[in-house]
Amino acid sequence: MKRILIAVSAFIGITGLNMAFAAEHKMQHENHNHTMSMTDTRTSLGLSAEMKQHQLSNMREHVEAIQSIIGLISENKFEAASKIAHGKLGLTPEMQKMCSMFNDEKFKALGLAFHKSGDELGDALKTGDVTASLRALNKTMGYCVSCHAAYRQ
Ligand code: HEC
Repeated sequence: MKRILIAVSAFIGITGLNMAFAAEHKMQHENHNHTMSMTDTRTSLGLSAEMKQHQLSNMREHVEAIQSIIGLISENKFEAASKIAHGKLGLTPEMQKMCSMFNDEKFKALGLAFHKSGDELGDALKTGDVTASLRALNKTMGYCVSCHAAYRQ
């Protein structure tokens, strides 16, 4: 009788432990899902290796331009900030050419709208109005965010 009792309580103990582990595992899994999707569901642009590098180096220039613009606003150097916006984010012939190389029409349209907003940012900066400049910067950066959410290389 005593032996049976020991065997039964050992069994209950092991089962309980297993259930606790399972619950913890499930929780970790759910947390993981909450913070990060398991698969990348963004549209792929299907770029060649060369195009990938070209695009990424362009993108690094974009983020650098944003930093320069913010720094220049903080130093009241609106003229210089405006030049960077037009030259690095605006619809220059170089950017126009880059955007026209993609096959995805929606991506192309998003890219062109982004660069147009870069020129609008340049115009806003030129006025020296901080609020108008930040509003324009916010609009331009909205394109960075929405394109990154929708597309990958
Ligand atoms: C029209 C679409 C589009 C717009 C607008 C856009 N990007 Fe990107 N960007 C991409 C794509 C596509 C990638 C590659 C992402 C991937 O494959 O995961 C990328 C990658 C990047 C990277 C990664 C670079 C690297 O070397 O890994 C940075 C930084 C970046 N973008 C900054 C910006 C900033 C800042 C802006 C706005 C000022 C911006 N991008 C606007 C499409 C866009």
